Amino acid sequence: MGVAVERVGQEYALDAESVHLHFQVSDASKPRGLLRRAATKSQPDRTLVALEDVTLRMPRGQFTALVGTSGCGKTSLLNLFAGINEPTYGSVRVAGRAPKRGTDEIGYMFARDGLLPWRTVRKNVELGLECPGGPSADVRKDRAEELLSYVGLSAFDGAYPSQLSQGMRQRVALARTLAPDPGTLLMDEPFAALDAGTKLRLEAEFLDIWETAGAAEDQQAKSVLFVTHDLQEALLLADRVILMLPNPGRIALDYAISLPRPRARRLPEMLFSEDFRSLYEELFHALEEGSGETPGSAAEGGVSSCV
Ligand SMILES: Nc1ncnc2c1ncn2[C@@H]1O[C@H](COP(=O)(O)OP(=O)(O)OP(=O)(O)O)[C@@H](O)[C@H]1O
Ligand SMILES: [Mg+2]
Repeated sequence: MGVAVERVGQEYALDAESVHLHFQVSDASKPRGLLRRAATKSQPDRTLVALEDVTLRMPRGQFTALVGTSGCGKTSLLNLFAGINEPTYGSVRVAGRAPKRGTDEIGYMFARDGLLPWRTVRKNVELGLECPGGPSADVRKDRAEELLSYVGLSAFDGAYPSQLSQGMRQRVALARTLAPDPGTLLMDEPFAALDAGTKLRLEAEFLDIWETAGAAEDQQAKSVLFVTHDLQEALLLADRVILMLPNPGRIALDYAISLPRPRARRLPEMLFSEDFRSLYEELFHALEEGSGETPGSAAEGGVSSCV
């Protein structure tokens, strides 16, 4: 009898296949108090289809942006890869394995920095390394200092979050996310709360870290799945832009971005280039048209233009 060999799928950092995600939600209009029991019987919970038939394969080292209106399932999809949500149907793999909460393989960064106010900046960065069997205090300190230097905050290592601007807080959150050196980053609108100038600076800094690591001989670029509402941000940063549509949440467009790299030091210049402008225009109209598409079109591995 032959030995069963599981498909390892190592070529994909993230792999979601025919995923459906349903939530049971209770009807908020249910009456409260004495009437509640009787009413509950006749008004069962609803099933909310957050994701329907989503297939997304992301090769290692790719920078993919997820764009879509509020409620189309972007965070739900990230949560599937983080092991926070489980698919109702379909399969989800991270580097070939079932997703697990809290592993070093995945770094997850949110729009809200989530810094602990009673910890200094350095201690907040170290938080990402504090786990049973994790690195020693000295190693954590060195790593935190290295990352604070990457994000330009060495001088603030002893400050508290309340003493920082929002842009500085997001830099600390970025350092904390990078501290365990995850192979894959899930980023949920990480720069959304910033003003336009600070946002562009942070995008450039982050891209510089990502592109520099990717160019080093002994390192592989991190795989990034980056959620944003901002098409300009998606085009500046990503190799691939995926548009999701709501009701039910689904993938409608999957677009390869061929702008040359490295881009980190050229973002303002790129913004005003003819190439960028025409790409923005093309995608903008594609997204508009995509909004009228029928549900269910899926995104396959690699990159392809669907317009
Ligand atoms: N834990 C949950 N229980 C019930 N419904 C949920 C849960 N999480 C998400 N949803 C629902 O799933 C749908 C998709 O939500 P999700 O947060 O993924 O959207 P999103 O695209 O990230 O939106 P936004 O851009 O506003 O962050 C929404 O209708 C939301 O109400
Ligand atoms: Mg969200």
